[in-house]
Amino acid sequence: MGTINDSILQISYIIASICYIVGLKKLSHPLTAKNGNYIAALGMGLAILTTILFHRTDGHAIGNIPLILLALAIGSFLGTLAAKKVKMTAMPQMVSLFNGMGGACAALISIMEFPRINPDIIAESGMMNGLTLSILLGLVIGSVSFAGSMIAFGKLDGRINDSKISYLKIINIIGIAAIIAMIVFIMFQEEMPSMTIVYILTVLSLLYGISFVMPIGGADMPVVISLLNSFTGVAAACGGFLYNNQAMLTGGILVGSAGTILTILMCKAMNRSLMNVIIGGFGGSAAGSDEGVEKHIKEITLSDAAVLLTYSQKVYIIPGYGLAVAQAQHACHDLEILLEDKGVDVKYAIHPVAGRMPGHMNVLLAEADVPYTKLKEMEEANAEMANTDVVIVIGANDVVNPAAEEDPSSPIYGMPIIKALDAKNIIVIKRSMAKGYAAIDNNLFYHPKNRMLFGDAKNVLQKLIAEIKAM
Ligand code: TAP
Repeated sequence: MGTINDSILQISYIIASICYIVGLKKLSHPLTAKNGNYIAALGMGLAILTTILFHRTDGHAIGNIPLILLALAIGSFLGTLAAKKVKMTAMPQMVSLFNGMGGACAALISIMEFPRINPDIIAESGMMNGLTLSILLGLVIGSVSFAGSMIAFGKLDGRINDSKISYLKIINIIGIAAIIAMIVFIMFQEEMPSMTIVYILTVLSLLYGISFVMPIGGADMPVVISLLNSFTGVAAACGGFLYNNQAMLTGGILVGSAGTILTILMCKAMNRSLMNVIIGGFGGSAAGSDEGVEKHIKEITLSDAAVLLTYSQKVYIIPGYGLAVAQAQHACHDLEILLEDKGVDVKYAIHPVAGRMPGHMNVLLAEADVPYTKLKEMEEANAEMANTDVVIVIGANDVVNPAAEEDPSSPIYGMPIIKALDAKNIIVIKRSMAKGYAAIDNNLFYHPKNRMLFGDAKNVLQKLIAEIKAM
């Protein structure tokens, strides 16, 4: 019975799984990331194609092929268009939206498959079996991921405000208890229950997804998205169990574990626990040991900055979220080339959580064709700071805030920072004295070594370039 077809399917699923693993590995370096994406997509394409061609249910081929192909064409077209058009600053929103779609798929699969659980299995063990559990977990986790991702999208896109409703946390605890109780109830049934209870479970899970993400601060959304991403992976892996499909299983497990690792790494780099992120209320609470003390800032003129940079030997650029907001990456690269032409050694110090998403600065600078060799990780850059003539902090704030090392009452205390203070001179480019993501003051700005160059990063950099050229 279709043994050749089965063998072809099994082999193609193994090849697909290998493609995902190789693809994921290649994603870990900017130089190979693009190819990694293609390889993983190739594996997914192969798994879809062979399933359409070779899968048999009781000897019958898959039906509705034209409809499947139409859906694939529409999805691919919309996905490609969205990926090409999305602005770098809107990338987290897009990831959230796409992740939500994955969760919705997993939930829909469960709703479709629940009434089709093999009656022989139910006759033997009632609803207490692995299939039912996979379906229910896929339904709950997929629905939570879908609803949560939509709220995360809304928050990142500025369409939904943070909710300060304190009792949401209690509602969440009741919600999760109700969901677990319903799963247990269904599993203990002797016969197939009515679909109404499955629909109620779906609605409950969707509501839980909303109330889970609502109280979390908008700026914490990248961490939440990564967490929801891992949920989607687990939901897809449940589908893999259900269909005994290795490609789906491996893909789901990889997404689930990669999402979990990324969530942990982000929390570590911010020196916060996942609980702290989920419970929210981060930032702005540090009283500061020098509260009330009058602080003075020094400004630098464009011409003085131009002279200082031109006659330096070694310059480090520390980019942050403001560089992305100003879309100043190209101007930043132009400044780097101009200074290099004048014999200055220019490098970039990249903090792991600079910006608002993992690898934000790397992607942004790659877009402007900054060579990867110029990007130095925090530890390497910090080791060179004392020999650096000038650091230019462009739109960065928290990632250079000395309070992380000096002030135990600071919410960012313990977070590793780029030690801009160790350099001989500091220039900070930002629009005002406004705070960053953690909503705390930054004493670096008041340090005698530092001088502020106020304005929009792109605008200031363009003027600075013109000034250097005119020298
Ligand atoms: P922030 O601390 O958020 O500071 C960004 C600064 O950019 C602001 O102080 C702002 O000051 C300035 N800015 C905004 N628009 C600008 C423009 N057009 N031109 C010039 N400057 C502009 O950024 P950071 O130093 O990159 O730190 C990142 C923060 O995000 C960390 O606290 C990190 O924990 C958090 N976070 C990161 C991630 C990931 S994965 N990267 C995820 C979640 C949270 P002005 O308004 O005065 O210009």
